[in-house]
Amino acid sequence: MSHRILLTGVTGQVGGELLRSLASLGEVIAPARGELDLTDAASIRQLVREVQPRWIVNPAAYTAVDKAESEPELAYAINTEAVRVLGKEADRIGAGVIHFSTDYVFDGEIDTPYHEFHPTRPIGVYGASKLAGEEALANSRAPHLIFRTSWVYGTTGKNFLKTILKIAREKDRLRVVADQHGAPTWSRDLGRLTAHVIRIIEKQSADSNLYIGMSGVSGIYHAAGAGETTWHGFAVAAIEHAREFDPSLKLAEVDAISTSEYPTPARRPANSRLSCDKLAATFGWRMMDWHDSLREVMAELEPTRREL
Ligand SMILES: NC(=O)c1ccc[n+]([C@@H]2O[C@H](COP(=O)([O-])OP(=O)(O)OC[C@H]3O[C@@H](n4cnc5c(N)ncnc54)[C@H](OP(=O)(O)O)[C@@H]3O)[C@@H](O)[C@H]2O)c1
Repeated sequence: MSHRILLTGVTGQVGGELLRSLASLGEVIAPARGELDLTDAASIRQLVREVQPRWIVNPAAYTAVDKAESEPELAYAINTEAVRVLGKEADRIGAGVIHFSTDYVFDGEIDTPYHEFHPTRPIGVYGASKLAGEEALANSRAPHLIFRTSWVYGTTGKNFLKTILKIAREKDRLRVVADQHGAPTWSRDLGRLTAHVIRIIEKQSADSNLYIGMSGVSGIYHAAGAGETTWHGFAVAAIEHAREFDPSLKLAEVDAISTSEYPTPARRPANSRLSCDKLAATFGWRMMDWHDSLREVMAELEPTRREL
């Protein structure tokens, strides 16, 4: 199997992992922002028409959750309008779209993990712009999969884990929110999941039209790390691992605080837990438990940790 894949957001956490995981599936065209600015609809159209991909994989997004509150137009341009154009262009050429979305489409007010059928109600601009992107893609009629994920982290890019490790070397005390519940998701797990799913669909499509291979599976899937914790629990676990490598870490205490003690411009859902049962039932894929992925990421980070 060898197909052309157009990958956006290659400089991001998930995009970087996708560049690796998709390489064995075909020719990956991965323009950085300088070659494909997602705020420019005409350039998106032009690129898709030139590349004629079989798949468009779109992890690119406006991900600055707090800043989005004061830059809603930019957030909607990238998270909604660009997705609408990608969807329409994909439909024109019969390409499949794999898109990423977020737990922040929910308000976090139920006390069980969210399933795909639960009603959405974003409580911030970022979540609202991502939800509108999901809807735009669904309305485009392109065969598509939307992976809603949460708390993404890994060895590259900006993320909570790397921030915590940096602080642990510089400060002796840290306050972390302990009343938001969810699961950290390794960017590499999302990269592997995407390659796995493309392989399965291609096998079912047997080189024919993706509308056939994806009929019955198009739609939204929750894809987050297995297990659950809080930001505080995640920080404590990360520091424990870090101490194994470096017993002289400066950080002594990780204080558990409430969301109200750490005000931010954007509200966050208190419950971000996502049930990934549909993903397992449809594609036979189980997301890694966050404890296991944390262990692997820490082992990989260790040689470079002093440079973080
Ligand atoms: N990070 C999380 O905790 C989290 C949680 C839930 C869901 N998600 C979703 O998961 C997906 C991947 O997230 P991530 O953590 O990998 O994001 P990320 O590390 O912030 O990367 C975002 C990517 O989008 C690109 N991008 C932003 N604006 C662009 C523009 N105007 N034109 C072209 N490219 C642009 C960035 O390019 P530059 O490098 O040039 O800025 C970067 O490559 C996103 O859909 C996000 O909404 C993330």
